[in-house]
Amino acid sequence: MKKKIAIYPGSFDPVTNGHIDIIKRAVGIFDEVIVSVLSNREKKPLFTTEERMEMIKEAVKAIANVSVGSFSGLLVDYMKKHNSNVAIRGLRAVSDLDYEFQIAHINRELYPEMETVFFMPNAKYVYLSSSIVREAASFGGDLSKHLPANVKQALEKKFAK
Ligand code: PNS
Repeated sequence: MKKKIAIYPGSFDPVTNGHIDIIKRAVGIFDEVIVSVLSNREKKPLFTTEERMEMIKEAVKAIANVSVGSFSGLLVDYMKKHNSNVAIRGLRAVSDLDYEFQIAHINRELYPEMETVFFMPNAKYVYLSSSIVREAASFGGDLSKHLPANVKQALEKKFAK
């Protein structure tokens, strides 16, 4: 049977335990999950694409059937290249819906065979986002219980400079 490959795209700047929670749920359903870091953002990310990929690789190393990649340009082109027609996104609350529907509908227009599959993270991650983590870390706030240990270290290093 053909392997069902799902792509989990995002900025992951940085990856949080909320993202890891989604990845764990997704590997229970798909044969392979490729966590894919968007690298052509106009706004300057805190971490480089390579740093973000390294952080994810370290954080998912104990989870089977997960790999980490990066892409620039259209998500749908990257998905076709990887023989995938499933994109995974996390939905924390109704407030995420507007943005997510826009992305999902545009992607469907560009690649009609594709499905976007939404996963709900554990309730403890509902208020967690990479931007909140960046802001808290920049002022010395400790959100470490919401972050993989290596990400906590990387943030401390980044803001110690
Ligand atoms: O973590 P994010 O920033 O919410 O992820 C957004 C992402 C990466 C999924 C989205 O911006 C994306 O896929 N961008 C690639 C360009 C693209 O395909 N655009 C058309 C759909 S918005």
